[in-house]
Amino acid sequence: MTSRRQFFSASAGAFLGGAATRGARADTKGYPYSEFEQRIARKDFRGMTKDVLPTPCMVVDIDLFEKNLKTMADSAKKSPIFLRPHVKVHKSVDVAKRQVALGAIGVTTATIAESELMSGGGIKGVLWTKQPASYNNLIRAVALTKRDPSFMFVVDDPRVADQVEEAAGAAKVKCRVAVAVYAGLTRQGIANGKPALDLAKKIHSSKNILLEGFMAYSGAASHTKGFAARRRKTAEDLSGVQETVALTRKDGLPVGIISGGSTGTYNMDHELGLTELECGSYVFMDTAYKKVGGKSDDSVYTDFESAMSVLTTVDSKHHAGQVTIDYGNKAMLQPTDQVKGMSWMQVERQGAEYGILRWKDGGGELKVGDRVDIYCTNLDMSTNCYDRYYIAKGNDIVDVWPIMGRSGAAQR
Ligand SMILES: Cc1ncc(COP(=O)(O)O)c(C=O)c1O
Repeated sequence: MTSRRQFFSASAGAFLGGAATRGARADTKGYPYSEFEQRIARKDFRGMTKDVLPTPCMVVDIDLFEKNLKTMADSAKKSPIFLRPHVKVHKSVDVAKRQVALGAIGVTTATIAESELMSGGGIKGVLWTKQPASYNNLIRAVALTKRDPSFMFVVDDPRVADQVEEAAGAAKVKCRVAVAVYAGLTRQGIANGKPALDLAKKIHSSKNILLEGFMAYSGAASHTKGFAARRRKTAEDLSGVQETVALTRKDGLPVGIISGGSTGTYNMDHELGLTELECGSYVFMDTAYKKVGGKSDDSVYTDFESAMSVLTTVDSKHHAGQVTIDYGNKAMLQPTDQVKGMSWMQVERQGAEYGILRWKDGGGELKVGDRVDIYCTNLDMSTNCYDRYYIAKGNDIVDVWPIMGRSGAAQR
């Protein structure tokens, strides 16, 4: 690990008097910044480095990102278990395509808009994990089924099943549906045992719905601290699901998929009856996940690398022990974010477009113009605030991937 002294001497004298992006520094003189957006549109990244990016912005370390994708894909193959990764953490067709190229059988989504975007981007096997309870969602789910028969969604209420049956009949399509069952998280999922079996039977006997199986997201287990405790909690939360699956199979109904799981439980879910994983955060990782601990170390989760950070610029320095940065509340700064390579630095909220970095006595300082990478706390929330990922290889920008269907109407 870089010492404070090495760190600050490496960044001293960099761009604008001190870019904290270690190592290679761009020759920004003569960079045609006026053409920046046109270059992005043309995908012409020659000479473009992190130093010229507008901040705050999201930067992906392509090497660490690819390592994360491979770690998960290899683990799923070895388990074995299928992988249908959740896209709400990245909202990017570019990321999804790379997941599919490594063997994912589709993607999991949180909203109908995400489902439409992923399917429209050419991703087959989209599983939407909410039931279409509103008229708007129902009509769109049926329409998407018509355009893309590989699309699936969940239902946890017999009344919604009736509405799907009717809407699918009117549109002359067969909707593919998994029953969402309770798996320890009190936000969705019909009770296991007879209620779940009855709903599965109802769907199976419907003319316009195909029963795919079950969706059982054990989200209360995903961030349980410590590997052994997490294993216990997952087993507890999935026990009812196992009972439901056994009852359903005994009744002669097809159970094609049992979907669930998370980045925190990816290496235990295959032993607990799931046939596929909905993990999402592993692609980039956030500080909330880093704390849950792993198999080899209960204090830090090292299975996946921190592959994405928010790049920010120090705007002002007038008070002892602190600087002001341009990463603020609108960009989803949180006090639990962590500064890359500077464990002595504390992130504090200040205002809409301002944040504070405060250092402990004796810690290294920052100065105006320094560029700092910060790991965000919750990917789902943060990616929703940015419209693109800058893809970096070291200090060089090698690509830009849009973040789709975020904020407001586009998200719904
Ligand atoms: C339905 C569903 N499946 C799976 C996940 C797992 O995602 P992660 O791996 O990011 O914990 C989530 C996360 O919130 C979710 O809502």
